[in-house]
Amino acid sequence: MRSYTHPQLPHQELPLIGVGAMPFSHGGKKSKDAIAVWHHAFDLGMNLINTADCYAPSAQEFGHNERLVGKAVHEYSRGRDSVFVVTKNGIQRKGSDWPRDNSPEYLLRAAEESNERLGFMPDAILIHRLNREQSLAAAIEAMCEVRERGLAKYIGVSNVNRVELELAWEVSDGTIAIVENERSPRYREFADVLDFCNEKGLAYLAWSPLGGGNDAAKLGELYPVFAEVGLAHNATAQEIALAWLLTQGSAMLPIPAFTRKETADSTVKSVSINLSDAEIDLLTASHTGNGSLYPD
Ligand SMILES: NC(=O)c1ccc[n+]([C@@H]2O[C@H](COP(=O)([O-])OP(=O)(O)OC[C@H]3O[C@@H](n4cnc5c(N)ncnc54)[C@H](OP(=O)(O)O)[C@@H]3O)[C@@H](O)[C@H]2O)c1
Repeated sequence: MRSYTHPQLPHQELPLIGVGAMPFSHGGKKSKDAIAVWHHAFDLGMNLINTADCYAPSAQEFGHNERLVGKAVHEYSRGRDSVFVVTKNGIQRKGSDWPRDNSPEYLLRAAEESNERLGFMPDAILIHRLNREQSLAAAIEAMCEVRERGLAKYIGVSNVNRVELELAWEVSDGTIAIVENERSPRYREFADVLDFCNEKGLAYLAWSPLGGGNDAAKLGELYPVFAEVGLAHNATAQEIALAWLLTQGSAMLPIPAFTRKETADSTVKSVSINLSDAEIDLLTASHTGNGSLYPD
């Protein structure tokens, strides 16, 4: 797979598409298959993996996904440095609740714990979701300290609007490297956040780029224009969706999840699809879904 060096991550070439790690810790997917599927995706060139400390089957198993990702990267034949690992902190698990804590003390402790669970320093740590009753400026200062203490090479934010991103940018002296927000045929908000990332050279990790595990297989039925355009390219609606996202600027880096090697194989094909301007316009103008998959 082709790679790209985002100006805000000058020492790293990142693949055009990465791997979402979440489903192997949610929704009853068998985590025993995770390592083989992820190694296959890395071999195909999708050597960025996206996890979070709160991805776990239950509150008691907090950190499950990070441990799995740490093991997969540790066991990968090409070594730790061949995979770019992104994790996220700031959401806790308490029973069936998912409370958010963006306090500096919590973010610093959570970053240390992510390092311990992974077994190495992640390439990037992001604030997963904002607790809007706490100070964003203080949280960003804490993330800068996370980086200065050597707990992550790069820092970023997830699920932010443009005003919040601009504040984070200012407080961090222009060192925010990654934004992770939702973007897919279903959900096309935050165009101004994507614009900011394209202008300033950040990576924009598009989460649930196929509309999430429940809807990904039905993408062509839910958004038929993607299936129609696929006919001209001998491609699936899902491959067209990823190809369409990749037309949205050099910041764009979709992170679909795979639980099967076959879907990783299909995903790689999307990078070679050249959509015409007319096709891009048609896809962009087509109908969207009914709001965010996980409303903030
Ligand atoms: N920051 C946040 O708040 C946030 C929120 C949600 C998700 N995320 C991140 O985003 C990642 C992806 O999100 P997601 O898992 O919700 O949704 P998704 O990637 O939109 O959908 C996952 C589904 O897509 C299928 N798939 C992948 N590539 C395909 C292809 N080329 N053709 C057909 N089907 C394909 C997979 O099938 P198989 O399982 O059959 O392989 C899987 O069922 C997560 O793993 C997580 O890392 C972040």
